[in-house]
Amino acid sequence: MIGRGDNAGKQCGEDMRQLIAGNWKMNGLGATAMAELGALAKHVETTRPACDVLICPSATLIERAARHAKDRFAVGGQDCHAEASGAFTGDVSAEMLRDAGATAVIVGHSERRQFHGETDAIVQAKARAAWRAGLISIICIGETEPQRDAGHAHGVCRSQIEGSVPPGATPQNTAIAYEPVWAIGTGRTPTSPEIAAMHAHIRAGLGAPLRILYGGSVKPSNAKEILALPDVGGALVGGASLKASDFIQIVDACNRSP
Ligand code: PGA
Repeated sequence: MIGRGDNAGKQCGEDMRQLIAGNWKMNGLGATAMAELGALAKHVETTRPACDVLICPSATLIERAARHAKDRFAVGGQDCHAEASGAFTGDVSAEMLRDAGATAVIVGHSERRQFHGETDAIVQAKARAAWRAGLISIICIGETEPQRDAGHAHGVCRSQIEGSVPPGATPQNTAIAYEPVWAIGTGRTPTSPEIAAMHAHIRAGLGAPLRILYGGSVKPSNAKEILALPDVGGALVGGASLKASDFIQIVDACNRSP
C-alpha cells in the first residue's frame, strides 16, 4: 500500500507496483462518498489488485475515508500549504492531512496552477512540505493545448520538472503525474505513442526512477492500453474515480505486479 512501505527497496520502473490514484476534486458528500469507498474497499479486499490504490477526496472527507479504508487503500489530499501552520485562512497543511490519515498529497495540479496561480516554485515548496510531514507527493505537470500545438509539449514538461521537483525526490517519497491540460475532463487523450514518448522524455529528465502516472480522461475503456505503455507507472483519474464501478475497472486494468 502506498505510504506504508510495501515498496521500500524497490527500484521502481518495471519493478514497482503501478499506482492508481483517484482525484475526486471538489466532489463528494459524506454518505454517498462512503458508499462508493465501501464498494472499492470490498473489491480491493476480495481481488487483491496488483497495484497500489489511492483516493484523494476533499479535505473534509479525508478522516472519514481513512477510517473507512482500513488499509485496503490509501487516502491522500489534493493540495497542501507549504507551511506547517500559521495565518493562512482556508488553507490546509501537509501535517494536517497526515494527522487526518492521509499518506500522500497531490501538488501542482493544473487546476491549482491555473485557478490559484501556483508557480513551479510554489509547487516545489509544497512537495517539500509533503515530505516534511511524511507524505508522498504526487507532483503534476502537463502542457496546454496551444503549447502542444506549437510543438512545445516536451520542453514545457521538462521545465516544470526542473522547477517543481525538489532535489531528494525518491520513488518512496514522490511520484510524477503527467496530465496534459487539454485532456483533463475532456474525453480526449494523446495517442499511445504520444504518451509513451512523453513518459520516456520525463523519465530521461528525472534524477531518480520515480513512478510516472498518466492523467487526463483515463476511463475503463482506455485504461488497459495506457497502463501497458512503457514508463507508465499508473494513472491519476478524475471523473472516472467518482463511481467505484468505473474506478474498479481501472484498478483491474493494472498489469504490472512487483
Ligand atoms: P479526468 O481528470 O480524469 O477527469 O480527466 C484527471 C485529473 O485532473 O487528475
